Amino acid sequence: MKTIQTLLGGLSVAEFLRDYWQKKPLLIRKALPAFEGLLDSQQLIDLACGEDVQARIVTQHGGKFGLQHSPFEPGDFEHFGKKKWTVLVQGVNHHLPEGAELLKLFSFIPHARLDDLMVSYAPRGGGVGPHFDSYDVFLLQGAGHRRWQISTQQDRTLIEGAPLRILKDFRVEQEWVLEAGDMLYLPPHCAHNGIAEDDCMTYSIGFRTPAYQELAEQFLVYLQDRIEVSGMYADPDLKAQKHPSEIGPAMLDQVEQAIKQVRWDREDIANFLGCYLSEPKPHIFFDSPERPLSEAKFRQALQKQGVVLDLKSQMLCHAGWIFVNGEEFEAGKDDYPLLRQLADERELPAGADIPDACAELLYQCYLDGYLTPR
Ligand code: SIN
Ligand code: CO
Repeated sequence: MKTIQTLLGGLSVAEFLRDYWQKKPLLIRKALPAFEGLLDSQQLIDLACGEDVQARIVTQHGGKFGLQHSPFEPGDFEHFGKKKWTVLVQGVNHHLPEGAELLKLFSFIPHARLDDLMVSYAPRGGGVGPHFDSYDVFLLQGAGHRRWQISTQQDRTLIEGAPLRILKDFRVEQEWVLEAGDMLYLPPHCAHNGIAEDDCMTYSIGFRTPAYQELAEQFLVYLQDRIEVSGMYADPDLKAQKHPSEIGPAMLDQVEQAIKQVRWDREDIANFLGCYLSEPKPHIFFDSPERPLSEAKFRQALQKQGVVLDLKSQMLCHAGWIFVNGEEFEAGKDDYPLLRQLADERELPAGADIPDACAELLYQCYLDGYLTPR
């Protein structure tokens, strides 16, 4: 509890949520007093050159921005000349256990809202320019210093034709220089600009806010495999019509009644959300174990060592249902609390009393590469 209060600058979670979350920025000096970062700039560049990593390089020269997307190779980081530059790597928590541990500190926000941990490195002057995000974000400073400028301006006009979303007229209202362990919370749409003062690494803990249009479209996709509409069109009472090209009212009435059979309830919506929000991003793949343990050996390992989610796994739950990486499972009454514990903490300790059906489900997840004995 004490750590959380330090993290939130002396506020309780309830106070932070009431007064700041989604409402206004909050600067927290020494949010994580001992934090110096989780990796150095070379390790981040190595990560940016990895195959299954999403990364960007942003350059600036004479007021013009450039943007490149991964895949990268080490040579891409060698010839910046006079250009200011920064590299930003998404999903660092999928590659670095310490990244996943860092995210656990932010578990006071539901996992369903969490996006990922992005880490950036920039030498002096580097940054992505003034912009706004539609995300909530905690910007935690690692090594070096970053000057953050923010504005609550409503003018969100962007520079036309720029490769990134850069605000045309950014009017700084407040600015601070953050050092290791300091943190800035920004609600969605708060304009900001981060400029590296020296060799600077920033850890962005990002939370997504899905657009309703996307949710509704994806819900219909989810529903299409689950609906049951009985019967078939029939017209034994067909009447002659003057214009054969016209869709007649009798046909329309019949089809309207058929389509009204498409129904959904709150459970369908919950299960859709669980699948949708735990669905891995398209570049994420899971590796099944090369030489998998037998189910009996896996159960022994479960008892002796406990189990831990793969760094890339997303696990959510709701009312007896478990959602892992876009798949849904109905859990038994005795299994649900354990599986929810695994979803909450990303691990189950050794020695837990695990019912048979639960062990079976965990074994299936193990074979899919979603989790592993510790
Ligand atoms: C960064 O440069 O590390 C942060 C990017 C952002 O402002 O979203
Ligand atoms: Co931003």
